Amino acid sequence: MTDTQALNRQFEKYDQVRKTHTYRLAENDSDEFDDDYEIATLDFAPFLHGGANERQRFAEEFGTALHEIGFAVLTGHGVDPALYDEMHDGVHDLFTSTSLAQKMLFRAHRHGSVSQGYFPLEETSEIHPDLVEGWVWCRRAFDIPQERELPFRAEDFWPRAEYERHFRRLVLAHEPLFKPIAQAIFQGLGVDPHIYDRKLTDTNFGLRLNYYPPMSEEQDRSGAGRLLGHEDVDLFTILPATRTDGLQVWNHRSRKWVKMRAPYGSIVINTGDYMQRISNDRLPSTTHRVGKPSDGSHLSAARVSFPMAVYVWEDEILEVLPGLGEPKYPPVKAITFHTRSTSKFYGDDYAVESA
Ligand SMILES: [Fe+2]
Repeated sequence: MTDTQALNRQFEKYDQVRKTHTYRLAENDSDEFDDDYEIATLDFAPFLHGGANERQRFAEEFGTALHEIGFAVLTGHGVDPALYDEMHDGVHDLFTSTSLAQKMLFRAHRHGSVSQGYFPLEETSEIHPDLVEGWVWCRRAFDIPQERELPFRAEDFWPRAEYERHFRRLVLAHEPLFKPIAQAIFQGLGVDPHIYDRKLTDTNFGLRLNYYPPMSEEQDRSGAGRLLGHEDVDLFTILPATRTDGLQVWNHRSRKWVKMRAPYGSIVINTGDYMQRISNDRLPSTTHRVGKPSDGSHLSAARVSFPMAVYVWEDEILEVLPGLGEPKYPPVKAITFHTRSTSKFYGDDYAVESA
């Protein structure tokens, strides 16, 4: 475990796409914030329901936002905000009513590419003591369409079967957005919008539930952050806006952190390493982290979030898309790319090299 002053540069050997900036993993008193930059908020409805011109206009605006900072906020996505309230309550219930002994029965380990299962407090990664408990499930942990060798058994993945039914509703609400989001991104790049339609049919994902307990005064002073600075390894992430703020996004132009302020009910979309790779660096995998909330509630209240990372299956090849110039990267199998990159967090033996 490294110290709370650690820099990302200490781990650059794991990067599978170009990352040139330097940042401290946890929030620090010397950090600067960019209060002027506004992350774009866009209405997704014209792309979902509109004609060719409306789709094109949205794709261009979305593409501009993602190119600039790798993040955009979407309204008009069609998911009922009441569902997010129920998920919020479900995360609270899961983490506070499951004993630590029971949680530890589901300790995270690698399932294909994804480190799936429970991550205890301060053990989200091996490189930084973050003040968060997490729990991750990939597609295999849900009773939804997919290839299986054995019948689905909720108890293999969940402390109580009712949690699978509860959080499956979030998966089923978000899955219909995977292709439209990808299509808008590809259209914005001037690439065939449907180029990943097959790859994204019944694709893999990682649903991560995060529970940030209230901090003690000692933890508050320790310098540990709520979640270390990192880049997502995926194509893109769908993050429903949280009730408690704290998400900070690195602005590579100003070299300052931007505090995310997304209206409740909206979803935050950010591009990850897979997308930076296949877009030939046109869309950045932007660094983000979770710091203390602006209202100071970290000493008295928990924070909850439930981001969903969209992946392709392990055997798919990640290759620079056509028409985006001389490829800066060779084609790579998704599992190789994914596990090399995330062995930064889970240890060198996490990496799976292609056969
Ligand atoms: Fe993230």
